[in-house]
Amino acid sequence: MQLSIIVPTFNEAPNMAELVGRIQHAVEGIDAEVIVVDDSTDDTPDVVRALAETTTIPLRVIHRDERTGGLGGAVVEGFAAAQSDVCLVMDGDLQHPPEDIPTLWHRFGEGDADVVVASRYQSGGAEAGFADKTRVFVSKVSTAVTKSMFPVRLRDVSDPMTGFFVLDRRAIDAETLRPRGFKILLEILARKPLRVAEVPFTFADRHAGDSKASVRQGVHFLSQLTALRFGKMSLFAIIGGVGAIANLVIVWALTAMGVDYLVAAIIAAEVTIIGNFLLIERFVFHDMRGAASGGWMRFAKSFGFNNAEALVRIPLVALLVESWHVSAVLATGITLVLAFFVRFVFHSLVVYAP
Ligand code: GDD
Ligand code: MN
Repeated sequence: MQLSIIVPTFNEAPNMAELVGRIQHAVEGIDAEVIVVDDSTDDTPDVVRALAETTTIPLRVIHRDERTGGLGGAVVEGFAAAQSDVCLVMDGDLQHPPEDIPTLWHRFGEGDADVVVASRYQSGGAEAGFADKTRVFVSKVSTAVTKSMFPVRLRDVSDPMTGFFVLDRRAIDAETLRPRGFKILLEILARKPLRVAEVPFTFADRHAGDSKASVRQGVHFLSQLTALRFGKMSLFAIIGGVGAIANLVIVWALTAMGVDYLVAAIIAAEVTIIGNFLLIERFVFHDMRGAASGGWMRFAKSFGFNNAEALVRIPLVALLVESWHVSAVLATGITLVLAFFVRFVFHSLVVYAP
């Protein structure tokens, strides 16, 4: 067996015949098998079993009763069940055209990559199949945010959120993966440095049925990002918290010494911004300093951003209070949480960009 094709499915019965037919045609000349890892509540497994009686390539279905780990969990189960070490993952709704399998396979065959990613965002690729503009936007923004959080690991990957890729399972540590929801490739790439290559492809329209993407998947995705980046993000948050306390103490001390409130607030803000920078330099982004721009340049960017952010945050609080009738404390809380994420993303994307 040269290639195991893993297809996670959740209620894709009306797509199976078309999918299997086209895969079978596309992989002619490659010794391949298809494993459908299914969590359906419809008759997808029966449909696949019936198809398996007539296919020329081996086709089997693993039906799971517990939907552990969702799509990502299903893919990891597929890796374990595969006969070949080389595993290709694709969706069951034909948004990943089976005709692109040989391209991925041949690129992988060049032997210089552990993972070959089919990318919508490489020149030549496209995402025709996104139902609406909102989803294109969400996809682009979340890709940019994700790349900014893993600037080194994802440097060569334009589409870390794709579900269409081929990899050598010996190159990954399956036990370290914590699949939650949809983004299994991100989990794989973020956990371990791998050699990645990309080929462009066009994300097609869904053949039949509805997408299983949901707000819930979005929440899974955010928790996945946080967990993967937990080390850096939590340190960044702790330092931010220390800074906020220091800020309060300085304002209190200066005003107690008779300094004017506004002057005290400005001094306190600038001292904490500088202190913050020194701490994140030393403890959060120390491993990224080497590849980034020089120290004064990093300072200028960080200092400029934090001042701008402080200036923007005050009118934003006012806006929330005045127009949205949010209480002042809640509005401050919301903007601080927002500012935390924006600040983290800005520092990984701009200040410490390689
Ligand atoms: N086994 C299993 N369990 N499969 C699932 C589950 C689950 O809980 N949820 C979804 N799937 C299957 C679907 O049946 C389909 O074959 C594939 O995973 C992708 O799900 P879609 O519902 O088609 O989602 P999509 O089109 O929004 O997602 C695609 O685009 C994303 C990039 O924006 C997929 O390619 C994702 O992998 C990709 O990340
Ligand atoms: Mn889909």
